[in-house]
Amino acid sequence: MAETVITSAANPEIKAIRALATKKGRQQQNAFVSEGLRHVVEAARAGWAIRRLIVADRQAPSPAMEEARRACREAGGRVITVSADLMSRIAKRDNAQSVIAVIEQKTSPLSLVVAEPGALWVALESVRDPGNLGSVMRSADAFGAKGVMLIGNTVDPFSVEAVRATMGAIVNVPLVRCDEREFLDWRASWPGRVVGTHLAGPHRPDGLRSETPTVLLMGNEQAGLPPEMARACDTLVRIPMRPGADSLNLAAATAIMLHGLAGGAGDLE
Ligand SMILES: C[S@@+](CC[C@H](N)C(=O)[O-])C[C@H]1O[C@@H](n2cnc3c(N)ncnc32)[C@H](O)[C@@H]1O
Repeated sequence: MAETVITSAANPEIKAIRALATKKGRQQQNAFVSEGLRHVVEAARAGWAIRRLIVADRQAPSPAMEEARRACREAGGRVITVSADLMSRIAKRDNAQSVIAVIEQKTSPLSLVVAEPGALWVALESVRDPGNLGSVMRSADAFGAKGVMLIGNTVDPFSVEAVRATMGAIVNVPLVRCDEREFLDWRASWPGRVVGTHLAGPHRPDGLRSETPTVLLMGNEQAGLPPEMARACDTLVRIPMRPGADSLNLAAATAIMLHGLAGGAGDLE
């Protein structure tokens, strides 16, 4: 298929891509934007459907660039060449990456969370901050978690900010969405353990590593874990802090817990 050159921000194709900066646009198109050639190639390798590949005209040819082009065409998508200036308008920032992809959204059902030995999942209650969500997904990927469960009314994981904060991990970490009731019903028949985190938790984050399938449950940034969710946990852990310190940032607390549960990065083993 011939590649398209677009020069005007008023082009309907460019308008549709720019609309992906809004939640409404992402929902209507069931798509999101990923920036940077490396992330686009990783997405294609992980089986995500590339609908549009937008390439700045200054982008040099390379094997990775060719792989991204091929993946887009094979998914039935279209490659569009734009000027660097138009690319900045699409990305809504100066010095934009010279490759951007429009990728089809994908989430997984609760049935994907299976109790295999050693399986580790992160569950986030009503996470509100896209940077926190992206950072948690990045840590989940780094520590080998099976995926992230988004419970309740959460921020959009496909927002530009959240995707940027994942640093590409969004394509490696399955996302499961459910509300509190669905989670609690599911939890009733989960044969593994649920390790919750709470500022009033009686347990320290020591000796947590286990082959028991585990869901690590983290609370909302403002309100923490609601009582019903806290009661659904087998263990409530408090990461020790200096007396008088308020709390840890959600993403920082998640990384500390994942390190304790997963036992450190794989390349040290
Ligand atoms: C910013 S904190 C929430 C603070 C909230 N005001 C509260 O009372 O729980 C967000 C989440 O990070 C985790 N967290 C933060 N600091 C923690 C700590 N010291 N121990 C255990 N979990 C912590 C918990 O999951 C918490 O719900």
